Amino acid sequence: MSKKILVTGVAGFIASRTAQMLLDAGHEVIGIDNMNSYYDVKLKEFRLNELKKNENFRFYNIDIEHIVDLEKLFAENEFSKVLNLAARAGVRYSMENPDIYVSTNIQGNLNLLNMCKKHNIKKFVLASTSSLYAGKEMPFLETLDVSEPISPYAATKKGAEAMCYSYHHLYGIDCTIVRYFTVYGELSRPDMAQLRFMKWIDNEQEITLYGDGTQARDFTHVDDIARGTILASEKDLGFEIINLGGGENPIEINQMIKMLEQRLGKEAIVNNLEFNKSDMHKTWANIDKANKLLGWKPEISFTEGIDRCVAHYKDNYAFYQGIEL
Ligand SMILES: NC(=O)c1ccc[n+]([C@@H]2O[C@H](COP(=O)([O-])OP(=O)(O)OC[C@H]3O[C@@H](n4cnc5c(N)ncnc54)[C@H](O)[C@@H]3O)[C@@H](O)[C@H]2O)c1
Repeated sequence: MSKKILVTGVAGFIASRTAQMLLDAGHEVIGIDNMNSYYDVKLKEFRLNELKKNENFRFYNIDIEHIVDLEKLFAENEFSKVLNLAARAGVRYSMENPDIYVSTNIQGNLNLLNMCKKHNIKKFVLASTSSLYAGKEMPFLETLDVSEPISPYAATKKGAEAMCYSYHHLYGIDCTIVRYFTVYGELSRPDMAQLRFMKWIDNEQEITLYGDGTQARDFTHVDDIARGTILASEKDLGFEIINLGGGENPIEINQMIKMLEQRLGKEAIVNNLEFNKSDMHKTWANIDKANKLLGWKPEISFTEGIDRCVAHYKDNYAFYQGIEL
């Protein structure tokens, strides 16, 4: 059996790009996803169909919460590493249904760590989040105390990170936690601002904006995130937490709306609602550690990234119109 790389949540926005880059580099990738309907499954199928064009890719519809399915998968395949990107990822929805965040983000992650322990897999990467830095001084450094998560989503990621540390300490699994900062790009999630706003502006529909739009994000293009995640998976680091963020000054949501308006040639109709308590006002990464340990820094500016998103939207207009927001 040759060694393969396991990518979880592979039909998702970030994992699908990560898997594609691994395949482009000549690796054999096994991808799993439970294809849940938190957002329009057509997007997941679209991403998956692109991956299935590659003969070194195999997909299984498996839930990381289901240990029996994982046992079978790990018995039948020899993995060199596991990249756990599967998660319940929406911040606001985590207030409505915190239980599934615990079962996927904590128990699911633990199941995968147990598989690594049992099958002697020495490298594990966990996708984590800048949401953990809520209320801290910017730019956010990995050494900040993040023990006060302001959403169930962030709390479950903190729990998963802590379990990775335990498994590293007890069983010598090399765990790298990559904390992503607001990821955007082609085929992004429809519950996130960039895709929603782009479609709403183009369709001359009202934008629902929580807050006054002065909130800002350290947007990071999905290709930079995927590249950073792969670099993290290729190093023996012991246990490390590494920010992957744009590292530029954070971009205000109002500024993003303006950039989309210019490119779409239409004016946004904005309905400002109350700022959500589970949201952060600003995010901004210190990315010195990623640069030092991984030789990583982002290569795609926000202007270029937004150009790409709008171009992809226009090139795949009918598909995007069919995506439910
Ligand atoms: N997008 C961002 O800005 C961002 C920021 C910080 C961290 N992250 C993290 O990055 C990772 C990927 O996020 P994304 O934006 O691509 O989200 P996504 O929802 O597009 O991808 C997650 C995928 O995981 C799958 N999944 C969920 N529960 C599962 C389970 N129990 N078993 C198997 N598959 C399951 C989903 O079906 C989905 O395809 C997540 O861990 C997320 O928390 C994302």
